[in-house]
Amino acid sequence: MQNHIPSLLVLSLISMVHTSARAEVRAITANPAEDCSTQMNIGWHADLDDTSCSLVYTRKSDATWAKSKKVAGKFQRSEVFAGIDSKSSDGKDWKEEARFLDYGVTLTGLKPDTEYMYKVAVGDAVSTDSARYFKTAGASKFTFLWFSDAHAYTPIPNRVRNMNTVIDAALKIEPSVDFVFSTGDVVAWGGSYSFWTKLFEQPFALNYMFADVIGNHDWMMRRNGGNNKFFAVAHNNPTNGYAGQEGVCYWFIYGDVLFLTFNNEQMKTSPQAETEAKTWAAGVIKKQKGKYKRIFIAEHYQWFDGRNGKSSWYDHWKDFCDEHHVTLALSGNNHIYERTHTLWDDQVVSDSLGTVYMEAPSCDGERGVEAGPLTMNADKLAFTYSSHVPSSGGQVKTIGCVLVDVGPKSIKTRLVYIDDNGQVQTADEHTFATLPSNAPRPNLPKKRPPIPKPTETTATQITSGTMTE
Ligand SMILES: [Fe+2]
Repeated sequence: MQNHIPSLLVLSLISMVHTSARAEVRAITANPAEDCSTQMNIGWHADLDDTSCSLVYTRKSDATWAKSKKVAGKFQRSEVFAGIDSKSSDGKDWKEEARFLDYGVTLTGLKPDTEYMYKVAVGDAVSTDSARYFKTAGASKFTFLWFSDAHAYTPIPNRVRNMNTVIDAALKIEPSVDFVFSTGDVVAWGGSYSFWTKLFEQPFALNYMFADVIGNHDWMMRRNGGNNKFFAVAHNNPTNGYAGQEGVCYWFIYGDVLFLTFNNEQMKTSPQAETEAKTWAAGVIKKQKGKYKRIFIAEHYQWFDGRNGKSSWYDHWKDFCDEHHVTLALSGNNHIYERTHTLWDDQVVSDSLGTVYMEAPSCDGERGVEAGPLTMNADKLAFTYSSHVPSSGGQVKTIGCVLVDVGPKSIKTRLVYIDDNGQVQTADEHTFATLPSNAPRPNLPKKRPPIPKPTETTATQITSGTMTE
């Protein structure tokens, strides 16, 4: 499928002015493929008559594109966003106009630990836009920038501006970020196609592989429920999820870490739906054995509620994390930053013996939720953070993200946030030792018999009404 094309031809193609290429191709993303050391998924959307799009790519060091390769894109027509109630950037009611070809390629045979650049070509005309970038896995350590809950909403551009501000600040603190991760709610309404296209024009999407987890806002429309397909079509994720979750739930391996992502909108529908997700994940863990050392899981809904420490989805996943020796569990939705101590069997254990559960804060400076005193689980929660300044949206102005440095035997996490005076702050720097998931753990305490719990309803959507933006 991959053809070498003469460098002169590439240069001439790149220099060609294709007047409409800019408008024809949008929502370009670099998403993980199963093995991120040699593969990458690139997705984009094109107008219905642009049936000959391809991807041109080369190593970043190949400044003249002399060694570039061209891969034909595969596409299918998508009308999933067409006619959906939305808002235009000037705040007016409108229906999304979105009928397009949903393109994707999986690049293979890439060199590990290498930066690549790429452009989309329409027919023979390579886009005149700047190149976009990703980096393959393969180094002995890697770093990802993790943000959540940006609620990108074109009528209020300040949200994305705040997201960019804190991402920029984190990149200045840690310039060697390898990819960007999100635990969801990247857009206010997943059904609003124009919100996705705007989001994927931002620098993080241009410069990094982006691994994203579906949030309730990414799933929903402005009115009348939602659809997994919004998320699946907006990205080009691996289609290795279970039935009905292809391109929504997915797994990938970056470095020695197996990442597993889950769809809360599906899991919350019934206990069986939750079991189905866990069965799939356990199957992946078993089948991919030998290809990874550590396991990270990610879902949108919070493990704990940072307003008071009340357990939320932690209760749903702690047994799974114990059984499979999950190293790090990532979530969002709460709009409050949280980190637990290392937990196993519902108690704090030594580093490397259990799981660290974390929540990324919101980053839009508008829809933050205020962290409160911990009246529950104060023994488990090591740190919480939010802004305490009210926002015009009636909540608080949290603007934060998290840097995760994954070394061979330890992990360092740092909260980066913009404080209430607009200054960049780093907080809760925490390094903990880790073990491969299959390593012997002779010091693990014996599991205690289960303690009966009072019945209670688990909070799922703390921050998200179906009509909110
Ligand atoms: Fe959210």
